[in-house]
Amino acid sequence: MAGVTVKQVTKSFGPINVLEKLDLDIQDGEFVVLVGPSGCGKTTLLRMIAGLEPVSDGNILIGARDVTWAAPKDRDIAMVFQSYALYPHMTAAENMSFGLKLNKLPKKEIETRVAEAARMLKIEHLLSRKPRELSGGQRQRVAMGRAIVRRPVLYLFDEPLSNLDAQLRTSMRTEIKRMHLAEKKTVIYVTHDQIEALTLADRIVAMNRGEIQQIGTPDDLYNRPASIFVASFIGSPGMSFLTGEITPASSAKGQIFINTERGKEALSLPPLWTKGLPVEETPVLVGLRPEALTYDPEGAGFGLDIMVNVIEPCGAEVYVIGEVAGREITARCTPGKVPPLGAPARFLIDPDQIHIFDANSERSLRP
Ligand SMILES: Nc1ncnc2c1ncn2[C@@H]1O[C@H](COP(=O)(O)OP(=O)(O)OP(=O)(O)O)[C@@H](O)[C@H]1O
Ligand SMILES: [Mg+2]
Repeated sequence: MAGVTVKQVTKSFGPINVLEKLDLDIQDGEFVVLVGPSGCGKTTLLRMIAGLEPVSDGNILIGARDVTWAAPKDRDIAMVFQSYALYPHMTAAENMSFGLKLNKLPKKEIETRVAEAARMLKIEHLLSRKPRELSGGQRQRVAMGRAIVRRPVLYLFDEPLSNLDAQLRTSMRTEIKRMHLAEKKTVIYVTHDQIEALTLADRIVAMNRGEIQQIGTPDDLYNRPASIFVASFIGSPGMSFLTGEITPASSAKGQIFINTERGKEALSLPPLWTKGLPVEETPVLVGLRPEALTYDPEGAGFGLDIMVNVIEPCGAEVYVIGEVAGREITARCTPGKVPPLGAPARFLIDPDQIHIFDANSERSLRP
């Protein structure tokens, strides 16, 4: 059994603290995705779990075992890197079996494992080719095969798909998910790509500047983002933010003010939000995902006049990018029901789909 526990782990390179007292608990068999902007410490964390980078402080446990100072080879994990790091002079099969040979596994056992992994990854016909005779996606599969044959208790993936074209990424993403469903091994997977995070993860860990901003299911992070950082990072096109405020009077009525083209307008909030509203004057940012807005010139309810600046057809949906009181906003429309370009258009807000953040702390005001 191999959950992973990261306890109060700090990492500094010289005077620079990259990670500070980080805590993370990963269950056995869980697929956890680390997301966050470049330089936030994702690779560093993965390398410390792998034993390729020493911690400055804190502990790392795999299962019940403290492996903080164990050598990488004694951790029973397999890491797949962004650069596949295959040996160029070896065939795919040799690349996959190399580690097992070093570990002196019986020849028969090695053959069985390679054949099994090759079947799972659909690369049986490529086993005698050298890396240069393989496409990027095929090399990727061989690199994954090399990890699978080791039958580790834990997989670490560091942006394994980022070198692939969009179509291949999508199909490899499905393969990885299929593999996880079949093997039920613990996976820690690093990516920049929020779609990969949403589609693959049991839980997502959103990191920024060496800190964990939120840990939760994809549903949690998409529908209940804890901060503006998470709200902006997850979802594409991203969430839009309008300025507004809560006053003692609006708070008492369960309302917030939103700055619109017509000035401050009061929006009555659903009960979910009214419980924890601050009673003092608080500047807020109101977050709206594109699907929270509906183009409806005649509809009743709280609406916004959006100056339509750009229209982006994307097949099944059309995104309208416009402006409200000097702030950019993106709304989702259905083809055939799109406002004209260059004019103000009325969009209704679904109050159940709004998000409210304290403008100073940038934290969600959701109770
Ligand atoms: N060996 C090192 N020496 C000094 N600083 C380092 C070293 N390795 C990483 N860093 C710094 O630590 C920080 C975190 O790096 P890390 O590679 O973990 O980021 P990341 O989240 O994986 O980013 P990316 O998404 O670009 O891969 C960065 O500011 C980086 O410059
Ligand atoms: Mg990295």
